[in-house]
Amino acid sequence: MEGEYGDIYHIIDIMIKKNEVYCTEIIDQGIDGEGIAKVNNMTIFISGAIKGEIVEILIVKVLSSFAYGKLLRVIKGSKNREKVDCSSYQKCGGCSLRHMKYKVTLSLKKDIVENCFYKILHREVKIEDCIGMDQPIGYRNKLIFPLGKNKEGKNTIGVYAKRSHTIIETDRCYLQNKKNEEIARFIFNFLQRENIQAYDEKNRNGIVRHIIIRNGYKTGDVMIILVTKDEKLIKENDLVNEVIVHYPEVKTIVKNVNKDNTNVILGKENIILYGNGYIYDKLGEFQFKISPFSFYQVNPIQTELLYNKAIEFAELTGKEIVFDLYCGIGTIGIFASKYAKKVYGIEIVEQAIKDAKENANMNAISNIEFYVGKVENLLPMLLKENKADVVFVDPPRKGLDENTIKTLLELESRKIVYISCNPATLARDLLMLTQKYKIKEIQPIDMFPFTSHVECVAVLEVKKTIEK
Ligand SMILES: C[S@@+](CC[C@H](N)C(=O)[O-])C[C@H]1O[C@@H](n2cnc3c(N)ncnc32)[C@H](O)[C@@H]1O
Repeated sequence: MEGEYGDIYHIIDIMIKKNEVYCTEIIDQGIDGEGIAKVNNMTIFISGAIKGEIVEILIVKVLSSFAYGKLLRVIKGSKNREKVDCSSYQKCGGCSLRHMKYKVTLSLKKDIVENCFYKILHREVKIEDCIGMDQPIGYRNKLIFPLGKNKEGKNTIGVYAKRSHTIIETDRCYLQNKKNEEIARFIFNFLQRENIQAYDEKNRNGIVRHIIIRNGYKTGDVMIILVTKDEKLIKENDLVNEVIVHYPEVKTIVKNVNKDNTNVILGKENIILYGNGYIYDKLGEFQFKISPFSFYQVNPIQTELLYNKAIEFAELTGKEIVFDLYCGIGTIGIFASKYAKKVYGIEIVEQAIKDAKENANMNAISNIEFYVGKVENLLPMLLKENKADVVFVDPPRKGLDENTIKTLLELESRKIVYISCNPATLARDLLMLTQKYKIKEIQPIDMFPFTSHVECVAVLEVKKTIEK
């Protein structure tokens, strides 16, 4: 490389330093999809670079055993590289894989899961091919746009830059449903016209912190949540009237008050400005009520696939007692209820359990019961009275706590179907569970195209049944 690229490049026999430029080959892909290079035995992570490429990089941060490089130029590109369609991609923290062909991102996600399992279980575990989307665009049913002040002190709306709270103004975010984005911009224009101030994190003044839009993919219903610093939002009635005239699909508008100096988006108080405070959506043959605080999967097309896979893995015969742990608004339990004798759901968010109970009634399901509380506390109590043949778990990113793992090990249920949005904690938990259960299958599903996130459904079978 020396002659061709001149002597501005530092070749491998010197220590790398911040602000220096190197020419290097990308030898691997990291857990967040970033390219990995080795220079002078130092591992360098480079966002936007693809395995096999020769790239020019600027070293931006050096730590004791690794460094971060910024991609300056692709000297020899990969055939897997895709022209980036988003003007904010370099700065935005939303996507990290838009520079790759979609099919390649799917095999990368399979590799990420495989590597996690190898690193934690120290053996190869078969991972199925990641199931992707036919149209991986505009798939999100939940938009969250932060508001703030730009350098000139003017209201701004957009997306957060990578690892920061700097707001980048975007023309179009290709993860978002187009209508949701249009409604968010309509609201922002109203705020501008009426001189209503965006909340400024630094000075803690201003009023509107976030605009959140959720939509029912099948029903077309739209919910707007305006997160404000105080209860008082001037001209809120005018805003509501203008929105519902322009967008009749808006079924409810909620003001969520968050007075705290925090990164947590939602405050504890919801004030309904219009409608009932909830919307509906359909998944499979079932209808679901969704409230502002309730978790609902963000990619409805892949969610149906995910739930159907989970039900298929459970191999229910109609005779089983089933537990749906971390049940949210009861979606998985309701899917399972058709094929089970009885289902119990546990969830920590009170409003989600209220929705879950209404969802069961609305769908005329009588063999399901929901409990509000922590899985780690409630599960052992419920198991004193009831056995469990099949357990579905769908915890948050941090995975299962020790108590729940202990309970599942003692339980020895016929099957555990584990749905996870974090392969690292999935692998950690499955390692523990393999004391009593055998891993049967792990199916990655692309719920979050062009981001490095990957969802998995894993099925475990109790060892004693298999040995019989
Ligand atoms: C990944 S979501 C899954 C929800 C649901 N299964 C679905 O598919 O929509 C995880 C859920 O776990 C709930 N949760 C978090 N910690 C919990 C705990 N310790 N006990 C019970 N539920 C919890 C969250 O409120 C959230 O609804």
